[in-house]
Amino acid sequence: MARNDMAMIPLLSEPYLPRVRQALLDATPAGARVAIDVGCGHGVNTVWLRERCAADALLIGVDCDVSALRAASTVRGIAGDASALPLRDHCADLIWCVAAFALFADQQRALAEMRRVLRPAGTLVIATAGTYWVRLRRHPPEVLNGLPPSVPAPPADGLGDEWMMRLTGAGFHAPQVRAYLLDGDEPAQAALIDGAALADYTGLLPFSSPMTDPEPRLLWLVVSASA
Ligand SMILES: C[S@@+](CC[C@H](N)C(=O)[O-])C[C@H]1O[C@@H](n2cnc3c(N)ncnc32)[C@H](O)[C@@H]1O
Repeated sequence: MARNDMAMIPLLSEPYLPRVRQALLDATPAGARVAIDVGCGHGVNTVWLRERCAADALLIGVDCDVSALRAASTVRGIAGDASALPLRDHCADLIWCVAAFALFADQQRALAEMRRVLRPAGTLVIATAGTYWVRLRRHPPEVLNGLPPSVPAPPADGLGDEWMMRLTGAGFHAPQVRAYLLDGDEPAQAALIDGAALADYTGLLPFSSPMTDPEPRLLWLVVSASA
């Protein structure tokens, strides 16, 4: 994942922000009463998380950079490392980790910590950016319109397969991966969905989806799972 680190900062800026924000909100259930943002930095994007929380929710940001936490005015900050979260077991309904996971030295340990801190059936949402080789698909609108809004169709080209394994390996359930194109004019998510997966969802079998040749494109992967 190291190749993706350098992409993080510019991809959290305009013109990508609206797409990133919407992708995160789409993956996040509403109503959390205790929500944690791991690697919150200055807390600039933690405000999005507030949109999904209950009105009286406790929103906590954790970051190892104390100076970033001091500058954060949108979130109650706690200094700490993702590999040893300074939080008690099963205290959170929701954990976000945005553009930070790739920086963690011990990523599997960080997942185990997030699992420990989430209450049973709590939700983890991790967003990470990078350049990936993908083939874009063009699906008929009537097929895309048949997709249930609550269930993301998995992306093609093996995007997110590694995440699926890591999340289940850390004890999470029902992992889901959404992949979004950040550049270009194609529909952000639909262009990456595998035709066979779409057919499974819509019941329209079989149909073809013309593809481009593989090319490197900027993507956000938004993965979510249940504790
Ligand atoms: C690119 S910034 C993203 C900040 C924020 N999530 C956002 O969306 O703007 C990555 C953050 O991860 C934090 N970080 C890196 N390694 C960490 C670790 N092991 N534990 C906690 N935070 C860490 C950094 O200090 C930095 O604030």
